[in-house]
Amino acid sequence: MPVIRFLRENRDVECYPGENLREVALREGIALYGVKGILGNCGGCGQCITCFVEIPEGNPGDALSGRTAVEEQKLRRRPPGWRLACQAMVQRSLVVITRPQLGMAGKDTQVATALAAPLPPGPTCWPEPPAAASTDEDPQQAAPVAPEASAPEGAGSPATSDERA
Ligand code: FES
Repeated sequence: MPVIRFLRENRDVECYPGENLREVALREGIALYGVKGILGNCGGCGQCITCFVEIPEGNPGDALSGRTAVEEQKLRRRPPGWRLACQAMVQRSLVVITRPQLGMAGKDTQVATALAAPLPPGPTCWPEPPAAASTDEDPQQAAPVAPEASAPEGAGSPATSDERA
């Protein structure tokens, strides 16, 4: 199971392979947005450009899904290690810096330390889905079947020759 090491928050968070980085961060209460993003973000549509994260060098190259076309366009003037969290799917364990636009004291040292500390490997797989509700009902508990409506005698059936006589 991949682990996201959120460096600024000093938190390791587990997620499943293929999970959206933004969704994992929000679920875990990680402060992903700066002031602008808090005041108004696009909800993960790749339009507001406020969910920046930095993926420091030294992470596995395939830790996240590749850049989307939206990122290629929106991040043209940003450092190459930046991503939009809403566009990135987590494939393997990695170190992430949220709100990289804010800077970070001692960042290089912290990154080196974080990358040196072992992270559990990923990916593995999603857990088995919960067992479906049983369809085997107890026959004693089964709803009674309505008896066939009894038709009046002779109704609906052809009369025999004796009856016609
Ligand atoms: S949440 Fe708006 S671009 Fe990611």
